[in-house]
Amino acid sequence: MDHALFYKQYIRPLLFKLDSESAHKLAHEAGHLAGSLFPLFANDFKYQGNDLSVNLAGTQLENPVGLAAGFDKNGLLASMLGNIGFGFAEIGSVTGKPSAGNPKPRLFRLVDDEGLINRLGLNGDGADVVAQRLKTTNLSLPIGINIAKTNDPSIKGDLAVEDILHSFKAVKDLPAIYVTINASCPNTKEGILEEKKQLATIFSEVQKLNSGKLPLFVKLSPDSSDELLHDMVEEAIGNSLTGYVCGNTTTTRKSLRTNSQMLEKIGTGGLSGRPLKDLGLSLCRRIAKLKDANQTIIGVGGIFSGQDAFDYIVAGATVIEIYTGLIYEGPTLPKQICEELSALLKSRRMSITEATGSESKIKA
Ligand SMILES: Cc1cc2nc3c(=O)[nH]c(=O)nc-3n(C[C@H](O)[C@H](O)[C@H](O)COP(=O)(O)O)c2cc1C
Repeated sequence: MDHALFYKQYIRPLLFKLDSESAHKLAHEAGHLAGSLFPLFANDFKYQGNDLSVNLAGTQLENPVGLAAGFDKNGLLASMLGNIGFGFAEIGSVTGKPSAGNPKPRLFRLVDDEGLINRLGLNGDGADVVAQRLKTTNLSLPIGINIAKTNDPSIKGDLAVEDILHSFKAVKDLPAIYVTINASCPNTKEGILEEKKQLATIFSEVQKLNSGKLPLFVKLSPDSSDELLHDMVEEAIGNSLTGYVCGNTTTTRKSLRTNSQMLEKIGTGGLSGRPLKDLGLSLCRRIAKLKDANQTIIGVGGIFSGQDAFDYIVAGATVIEIYTGLIYEGPTLPKQICEELSALLKSRRMSITEATGSESKIKA
C-alpha cells in the first residue's frame, strides 16, 4: 500500500483519536525517532526530479516546499525533515525567553474544514536553548529561523525590541539561510506589531547587528488592513529586508462547515488549513503589488496540493510552506506537491522561475 494511503487509513485515524496537541507531540516524537529510517525510503518521500530547484535568498534549494514555522518550534526535527522531502524548513517561532505559552486546551481540529485553530501563544524552549541545539545538529536541509517577541505583556516598548534582538543575537551565527521576524502572531496580546515606529526600530536594530549578512523576512497577517501592509512594506524596503512570509493564521471564521456552536466552544485562536487559502493567496497578491521587484515572497496558508502551490507561485511566491496540510495528508505531502507542481509547470511549458509572479505579468 502506498504511504499516503497508509497514513490516511491507519495513522491519521489513530492520531485523530487523541486531542490535537497530544497527537502533534506523538507525531513529532515519532518523526524524531524514525528520522534515521527515512533515507531507506528516499524514493517514497523525496521528489527525484531537478526541475523544481529554486534560489531562495541566495541559497539553491532542491525544491520549493518548506515546513512552516510552528511545527518544529524548538529545532528538534532539523536532522530529519530533509529526509521526508522538504526543500527547507522554518524553525521557530523562537522567543527571547523560554515560555510555556497559553493554558491548554489550545489546539483544535476542524475536521470538516480540514483546518486547525490554535492559540498556543508562542510556547518554546527560548532562543538560547534552540540556538545551542541547532549548533550541534547535523542539518538534513537548509533552515530559516523565525523569531518572535516573548509572550509576556510586561515586555513592551524598548524591552520588546531588546527581547527580539536577544533572539536575533542568539541565532545570527547559525548556519541558517534566512531569519523571519514574526510580526503577526494572533495569539499573544501584542503579537501583531501594528505600530509603524516600533516595527521600524526592530528592523533597523536587527539590521545593525546583522550588518546585512543574513537575509531577513517579515511574516505578515492575512487580516492586515491595506494601510498596515503599506507601512510594513515601506519599512521593510527602507531597512533592506529580503522579503515577506505571506502569511500567518487568520482570526476570522468565514465560510466554515464547522458549526457556530463548536466554533464558540473552541474560542479564540488562529485558523489555518484549507479555509485560509483564499486569504493567504490574497495577502500574497497584495504584497506582490507593493514590494520592491528584487524582494522575495514565501507563500503559506492552506496549501494541500501542487495546484495550491502553483497558485501561490504565479501570485508571486518564490517558494511555499505547509503546516496544516501535513496533519491531514501525512508525510508524503512534500513529494506529492512537488510531483503535481512539476506536472502543472510542464503542461504550461514554464520553468518554476518563469512561473513566479507570472499572474501579474500576464495582467500587465
Ligand atoms: C499549531 C500551529 C502553531 C503555529 N506556530 C507558529 C509560530 O510559532 N510562528 C509562526 O510564525 N507561525 C506559526 N504558525 C502559523 C504557520 O506557520 C502558518 O503560517 C499557518 O499555519 C498557515 O499555514 P497552513 O494553512 O499550511 O497551516 C502556527 C500554525 C499552527 C497550526
